[in-house]
Amino acid sequence: MTNYPVNMAIHPEINAFFDAATNTISYIVKDPTSDACAIVDSVMDIDYAAGRITYDHTDNLIATIRKRGLKLEWIIETHVHADHLSAAPFIQGKLGGKIGIGAKIMVVQDTFGKIFNEGTEFQRDGSQFDALFEDGDTYMIGNMPAFAIFTPGHTPACMVHVVGDAAFVGDTLFMPDGGSARADFPGGDAGELYDSIQKLLTLPDDMRLFMCHDYGPNGRDIAWETTVGAEKAQNIHVGGGKSREDFIAFRAARDAQLEMPKLIIPSLQVNMRAGEVPTDSDDNPMLKVPVNGL
Ligand SMILES: [Fe+2]
Repeated sequence: MTNYPVNMAIHPEINAFFDAATNTISYIVKDPTSDACAIVDSVMDIDYAAGRITYDHTDNLIATIRKRGLKLEWIIETHVHADHLSAAPFIQGKLGGKIGIGAKIMVVQDTFGKIFNEGTEFQRDGSQFDALFEDGDTYMIGNMPAFAIFTPGHTPACMVHVVGDAAFVGDTLFMPDGGSARADFPGGDAGELYDSIQKLLTLPDDMRLFMCHDYGPNGRDIAWETTVGAEKAQNIHVGGGKSREDFIAFRAARDAQLEMPKLIIPSLQVNMRAGEVPTDSDDNPMLKVPVNGL
């Protein structure tokens, strides 16, 4: 395993914003020693039936940052989400900051560029983003060092971002009673997901883990924070030393029963463009539906 620069002595201040429409949690991550902050996994609201995009969820984050006089340095995407739209460019237009994602975004852009029959004008080199992270890459949020861990499986470009004693796990893990994310989207791989989760579970037991999603299984309240130790002991899909073979078999059976996320069609088109809505030949914002293409 890569030797990641873990530093449990740094404690970022974390504000969570739950989006009830998509069960997504967005985060503001603040450096306690400066005004610098980052946003992880923002959400743009869409009424897909009406083709209407709004920004209520994101406006909350923006208002919080403005009210506290913070300086937004990074807008991080843990991966190309298939269940909600990123608001990264909208936020960048208001507050600045660099939009970053895993370098393997190019694989995702190539896969879905074909499925959505995007023309040659759709670049598949990640150039829509300001930063492309490789495994172990480091960056700063104010005085806090942060780094990215490559965690493919749910998608081929997933990354977990670690800031001090806090890790933003994207869809690599859910809360212990939620298990793990599906691995059946194009480019997904249950074996890779298992390996990525094992890599995460080698982080210190008291590392705080922040989920991208929670669905409140079995009627419990929505939650988004746990620890490496809790996941190791209790995660219903990988805890207690579940084997790779068992996990792959379990995921294949489970994923076969899952419906497509309601917003997968608009989400992929927008998120593979770093959150920009595609436009037609007259420059109108426009989304496609590839019939029987997914
Ligand atoms: Fe996802």
